[in-house]
Amino acid sequence: MTPIFQTSTYVQEAPGKHKGFEYARSQNPTRKALEEALAIIENGKFGLAFSSGVAATDAVIKLLEPGDEVIAASDMYGGTYRLFTKVFEKFGIRFIYTDTANTGNVGKAISEKTKLIWLETPTNPLMNITDIAAVSILSKKAGAWLCVDNTFASPYLQNPLDLGADIVMHSSTKYLGGHSDVIQGALVMNDAALREKLYFIQKSCGAVPGPMDCFLVLRGIKTLHLRMRQHSENGKIIAEWLRNHPKVSKVYWPGFTDHPGYAIARKQMRDFGGMISFELKNDSLEETMRVLSSTKLFALAESLGGVESLINHPASMTHASIPREERIKNGLKDSLIRLSVGIEDAEDLIGDLNNAIK
Ligand SMILES: Cc1ncc(COP(=O)(O)O)c(C=O)c1O
Repeated sequence: MTPIFQTSTYVQEAPGKHKGFEYARSQNPTRKALEEALAIIENGKFGLAFSSGVAATDAVIKLLEPGDEVIAASDMYGGTYRLFTKVFEKFGIRFIYTDTANTGNVGKAISEKTKLIWLETPTNPLMNITDIAAVSILSKKAGAWLCVDNTFASPYLQNPLDLGADIVMHSSTKYLGGHSDVIQGALVMNDAALREKLYFIQKSCGAVPGPMDCFLVLRGIKTLHLRMRQHSENGKIIAEWLRNHPKVSKVYWPGFTDHPGYAIARKQMRDFGGMISFELKNDSLEETMRVLSSTKLFALAESLGGVESLINHPASMTHASIPREERIKNGLKDSLIRLSVGIEDAEDLIGDLNNAIK
């Protein structure tokens, strides 16, 4: 097994003469092993590991200068929106939000100041799908980087670099770690000059993960393919069961043939994963809260992608940092419930939901 190098500094033979490791903010052997593994599973040349998913996102935005413009999805993880609006806007970076599921909207938003296009597909929590290959044609024409948050799909289901993206971002906290026991982020890219820029930001800003956490994500990656197969199998069973439930009004899951992004999801993903959102016919906040507090196997918690199933209320939990007006405008209702379907027995999970949705 890769050793956990619990080391902050490395002995040098003579000043400046070392064996490739000087100080652990810049390099650590456990992190190096993980970064190589991240590159391999995303079909990229270079991987960089960060102390969280938002730290990885933060590093990408630090590639930019005041005055630069970013086109971003109007529906995405609330913490990404918060980082963009509350931290980076005041440094003069302009974020233009649009429904990227319609590639035409991205085309219309591009200007000569566009330096980055930020996609999330499928999106958190509405499971919208964006055509990565089509947007990459636009980004190349505009001379902008295309970064894809691939957290929901994981590298087992989707490889954005193969579809023309310049950078893939992950919250490794989720499917890569897989066991809800670590916070971590990742970037993977092919271009050596871009890797140098991002590595410079990683070591200069210092949001690096510790060696124990790198070990945990390395271990998670070993079972990613097995877990993702089970997440996808259970996800399909539960999405279809929910859709037939008389008390459920709408289910958001890209594996339905009538999902607006189905054809693109079929083209760019290998399966549909275990993330599902739904709304109840009785969409009162009271009933929504009652269901959220009634499950026993689905634990009520933020996060996703672990082997154990989770249930979440985006409006008050993961997406509370988005102003209500903005949320509702983008289709994220107060009554939306999000499931991260784990790898437990599907019948048990259905029994649990059946008891809760009465
Ligand atoms: C799609 C997505 N991107 C990024 C993040 C941020 O990652 P982290 O919580 O590891 O900082 C999350 C976290 O929930 C997420 O769901």
